Amino acid sequence: MFSTNPRSLALASAVMVIAPVALAMGGSPKSDDAAVSARIAPVAKLELAGAAPKVAGGARSGEELVKAVCSACHGAGVAGAPKIGDKAAWAPRIGVGLDVLTKTAIAGKNAMPPKGGAADATELEIARAIVFMTNQSGASFKEPAAGVKIVATERSPEQIAQMACLKCHETGEKGAPKLSDKAAWTQRISKGLDAVTKTVIRGHGNMPARGGLADLTDAELKATIAYLVKRVGAN
Ligand code: HEC
Ligand code: HEC
Repeated sequence: MFSTNPRSLALASAVMVIAPVALAMGGSPKSDDAAVSARIAPVAKLELAGAAPKVAGGARSGEELVKAVCSACHGAGVAGAPKIGDKAAWAPRIGVGLDVLTKTAIAGKNAMPPKGGAADATELEIARAIVFMTNQSGASFKEPAAGVKIVATERSPEQIAQMACLKCHETGEKGAPKLSDKAAWTQRISKGLDAVTKTVIRGHGNMPARGGLADLTDAELKATIAYLVKRVGAN
């Protein structure tokens, strides 16, 4: 009677579990109709979401996308691409987390074109491809579920500064150069924005790596430093 379609099976079992419970609770089934459907609703919704894992466009598995696109470079290590299976090459990259890796892969990096050249790939497909490659290279990422936001939405330098940097740099806590100290900032920035960004990525003295916001990308960090420098009025 039931098809093997997982959606109808799931719905059927949800109904079969809940209906007897409603009956056992007294009241005639008829007067409890509304209450029963209210109880079923959340379960049914959950089961339906679970039974429909495809998102628009993002149909390729990580393995499929890697074989079709990414392995052209990551298979043999072409153009400096970290090779699949090369744990040493991947370790520092894996450390930044799947969301940041996904963001970087979408944007492209040096010899790596945006989305590895797979212009039609969705965020989810790229993330799955990264999981597939890195889990053979020392990572143990979980494949993200469809519909889950992988890459954090873009934050402005001002928002990042508010969120992560001002708590030390406004007050001078832990010896952080204060925003009011133009001379200190002018001296620190004299080695160039790129060099300073590298220092902040690594962390320095009492300054935590990436200012304590581990998921900041290099580009976000650089823009935030530029924003702070401008606000200080240093040159
Ligand atoms: C044309 C060659 C090429 C292709 C195709 C390619 N990559 Fe890359 N990829 C690179 C190179 C080169 C790097 C190293 C970039 C660097 O660190 O300078 C890289 C680095 C990466 C990184 C690490 C980024 C980081 O933060 O260090 C990820 C993740 C990645 N690629 C994912 C992918 C995925 C997913 C695909 C397929 C959809 C793909 N790549 C296809 C060349 C490629
Ligand atoms: C926990 C406090 C703290 C937080 C949070 C913090 N910093 Fe710092 N920062 C410091 C301290 C302390 C130093 C001085 C380190 C030293 O020179 O020993 C510093 C130094 C710096 C420097 C100068 C580096 C150099 O090469 O001289 C920059 C630029 C900077 N921070 C940017 C940031 C940004 C951007 C953020 C937010 C993303 C941030 N900081 C968050 C404490 C902090």
